[in-house]
Amino acid sequence: MKIVIANWKMKYGVKESLAFLREFKKQKLSAGVETVLVPSFTALSEVKKALGKNATKLGAQDVFWRDTGAFTGEISPLMLKELGVSCVIIGHSERRQWLKETDATVNAKILNLLKNHLMPIMCVGETWQERNKNLTGKVISRQLRGGLKGVTLNGQSIAVAYEPVWAIGTGRPAAPQDAGEVHRLIRRDLEKILGPRVASNNVRIIYGGSVNAQNAASFATEPAVDGFLVGGASLDPKEFVKIIKACE
Ligand code: PGA
Repeated sequence: MKIVIANWKMKYGVKESLAFLREFKKQKLSAGVETVLVPSFTALSEVKKALGKNATKLGAQDVFWRDTGAFTGEISPLMLKELGVSCVIIGHSERRQWLKETDATVNAKILNLLKNHLMPIMCVGETWQERNKNLTGKVISRQLRGGLKGVTLNGQSIAVAYEPVWAIGTGRPAAPQDAGEVHRLIRRDLEKILGPRVASNNVRIIYGGSVNAQNAASFATEPAVDGFLVGGASLDPKEFVKIIKACE
């Protein structure tokens, strides 16, 4: 089943999140696409309440790699589970850039998420300079190997989001065929890291980077694209629903 994830970043507080939900809940969605809303930490609880019996899942934008302890300012996976969160974005390029997240911290977070039965949405992707130097494959392989070191899924699933850094928030998405090619490369790497059976049964590879209602269909028809991680276009409920429908 395809998965479409709304990443609201640091854009919506409680008030705006609830305004989105009022509109979003009026839309009729098919059960054929898994949908996830990822609000700010401060809005998680209210969004969960507003979702009620709606099948849409709740995600978080980050998590710490320990369950409890003296870690001022951090959020534990147990705290997220308490609020009904079922998946967490890890290693988004904005966190790698601004918070200096490394493959090692990504790895620690993923291992602890899986221990707690929460699904990681692991972000990978190259910068424009790396792409121009033909380093896309190498950079992504490094991120996958580092981030998934010691990971065994034991029946759990993960999503890997291919998000070329130059395509995020720029209105300049990758060409769908190019994204498809990188997704196939990721799948091959995952076969080596996790084993062929796990890589094909337990991992969805989704695309992120300037996805919108106009271009979603052209990505959704790429067989290697299992869904989307959507930033800007997920802030508008009508536009987000169009993206979900492109995956039906
Ligand atoms: P965008 O962001 O859709 O605004 O490009 C995607 C993301 O950062 O997850």
